[in-house]
Amino acid sequence: MNRKFSTILVTGGAGFIGTNFIHYLFGKAGFDGRVVNLDALTYAGNPENLAAVQKVHGGKRYFFERGDICDRALVEGLFDKYEVDAVAHFAAESHVDRSILGPEAFVRTNVMGTYTLLDVARKAWKGRDDVLFHHVSTDEVFGSLGDEGYFREDTAYDPRSPYSASKASSDHLVRAYHHTYGLPITLTNCSNNYGPYQFPEKLIPLMILNMVEGKSLPVYGDGKNIRDWVFVEDHNSAVWLVMREGRAGESYNIGGENEWENIKLLDRLMEIVSLKAGASVEDYRKLVTYVKDRPGHDRRYAIDCSKLKKELGWKRESSFEAGLARTVDWYLGNKPWIDSIRSGDYLKWIEANYKQR
Ligand code: NAD
Ligand code: DAU
Repeated sequence: MNRKFSTILVTGGAGFIGTNFIHYLFGKAGFDGRVVNLDALTYAGNPENLAAVQKVHGGKRYFFERGDICDRALVEGLFDKYEVDAVAHFAAESHVDRSILGPEAFVRTNVMGTYTLLDVARKAWKGRDDVLFHHVSTDEVFGSLGDEGYFREDTAYDPRSPYSASKASSDHLVRAYHHTYGLPITLTNCSNNYGPYQFPEKLIPLMILNMVEGKSLPVYGDGKNIRDWVFVEDHNSAVWLVMREGRAGESYNIGGENEWENIKLLDRLMEIVSLKAGASVEDYRKLVTYVKDRPGHDRRYAIDCSKLKKELGWKRESSFEAGLARTVDWYLGNKPWIDSIRSGDYLKWIEANYKQR
């Protein structure tokens, strides 16, 4: 199997992983077709992330469309206008803490938005089998592990936050569209990503920036929750591999095989940032503050990605040390991006420059 696509509709391409995916497509992946980036530009999306792509390929092979994946007429129009033959569906509300504070947006975008895309694709593609709907999902749909074991593709779903419940619903819809209507789909469930362009409310960028700004480093609960970290480019190389070579109807787990207790990860991060920023690690350690735990905080995630490795020959390129060093360098070297995100100025700039459809 080696699928070829002419026009990929990337949803959520102005967010963290979607931005990196589009850079990857035009860079290392050597994709020679067109990319349409559909993004509503919520607080988490910034089209400036793709300014370099826009400059080289804008209007020829790269098209940015501001809009909501729940807007059926808009999505139908894009399928028609661009003759979309693949969807890489990244758009979502993605932050667990926000889902605890306000679940509604998660149900709307993650469930209704995914349904809308699936239904438009089904009708536009009318039984074709040379097309693909790829759904990007999370390991959080599997729930929480104890000290032993790994999430496999056949692990029963057990989502425990509004975020993971909405992602689990979207996964079920994607599979249902395959089984019921024969829509060609693939699905990936990935562990925690880190790397450039991640919105600084997630653990790694938040901690890097708080260190350099001398702010407290909030550790939830006892700091012993475990996450399996993968560099964003390795996640995206897996997504692209599955899109081209994965079996239709199948899901594949993606992970870093790289488990860290939050507190140990923070310790390593403090060492790296202190070296690069020329600051004292002891000063950083004084900033660590244990805070009230996240309600329903999943204890441990760990991915078994042997299916992806054995069946499709996927390999990670980045070691954790190299990936973390690149990530720290990126956050230390991109002050204007950070300042604009932190001040919220980029949202005003988006409103002035990109009309919502
Ligand atoms: P993100 O929050 O950084 O980006 C999400 C993007 O989706 C933003 O650009 C936002 O503007 C856009 N968006 C939100 N609602 C929309 C709507 N209604 N219509 C159109 N666009 C909308 O998220 P991310 O971390 O890049 O995650 C991308 C995908 O990967 C998500 O589906 C997430 O569930 C999944 N995932 C993330 C991780 C991780 O560690 N970040 C791990 C596994 C899976
Ligand atoms: O596992 C994949 C998931 O990883 C994705 O599906 C989500 O979209 C993504 O946000 C991420 O979810 P987490 O909840 O694991 O990521 P977060 O960065 O919010 O938190 C990582 C761990 O760090 C988690 O155990 C909570 C803890 N934490 C987080 C923050 C923001 C803290 O201790 N302090 C903090 O300030």
